[in-house]
Amino acid sequence: MKSNASQNVTLNLQTLPFHLGIIMDGNGRWAKKRLLNRVKGHEKGTQTVRSIVTVARELGIGMLTLYAFSTENWARPKIEVKALMMLLKKFIVSEREVFSKNDIRVNIIGQKHRLPKDVQKEIDITLDLTKNNDKMVLNLALSYGSREEITNAVKLIAKKIKSKEMDPNDITQDLISNHLYTKTMPDPDLIIRTSGENRLSNFLMWQAAYSEIYISETLWPDFSKDEFIEILKNYQKRDRRFGKVSCSTSNDG
Ligand code: IPE
Ligand code: IPE
Ligand code: MG
Repeated sequence: MKSNASQNVTLNLQTLPFHLGIIMDGNGRWAKKRLLNRVKGHEKGTQTVRSIVTVARELGIGMLTLYAFSTENWARPKIEVKALMMLLKKFIVSEREVFSKNDIRVNIIGQKHRLPKDVQKEIDITLDLTKNNDKMVLNLALSYGSREEITNAVKLIAKKIKSKEMDPNDITQDLISNHLYTKTMPDPDLIIRTSGENRLSNFLMWQAAYSEIYISETLWPDFSKDEFIEILKNYQKRDRRFGKVSCSTSNDG
């Protein structure tokens, strides 16, 4: 049971995570529990996406990265992949006016070129329509996998070295970061994973070096605004040390 004390703490809007990543997991188990087809879980999960995007924007989160489809998810049954692509297309079409109205810029990380052509077309329209919005970036991780992203970055850098555009000594951590799909974006401050699994499943592995991680037992379709806010409060109580000593235990001042 949650203590009343933690529920009474108010959320500080000044110290929200700037970049929040969510591994939206548990749609299949949500459906299974109800003896429904897995696709019904994905459908219900889309409603959660809508409500969490809305609350994130209302609170003033700067960047929200949603893990929607991994490079490994292509290996799921064809019928499920097809349904996921159809739901993705529907979402991107139905929400684009809302994104526009709410000043949300949509961005894609991952292998956009692997998505079905009709989905790519709708994504491009949405990207174009929202490109000048500046209140929140909504990053959709689609056909995304960290290992593929890093492999791709290594290839890009190797080509530049081969063409003498750069020297191996120019390789720095920042240079690597700037060849990832997330390029100039700040690293995620907080990553939430739903459905109780304790793993990253190939999500932002380079960028998550110092991210705070929160595992929720809730299945994604049941994930609520209230729980979301409780997680943000939990994040605000944490001491992010980045390998240094805590401010409160440091003697230098
Ligand atoms: C997350 O839910 C959605 C995607 C990975 C596309 P799952 O479909 O992985 O649901 P579980 O983990 O089987 O319950
Ligand atoms: C991670 O969930 C990918 C997404 C949420 C899109 P999975 O369900 O694919 O991960 P595993 O297989 O449980 O690690
Ligand atoms: Mg899963």
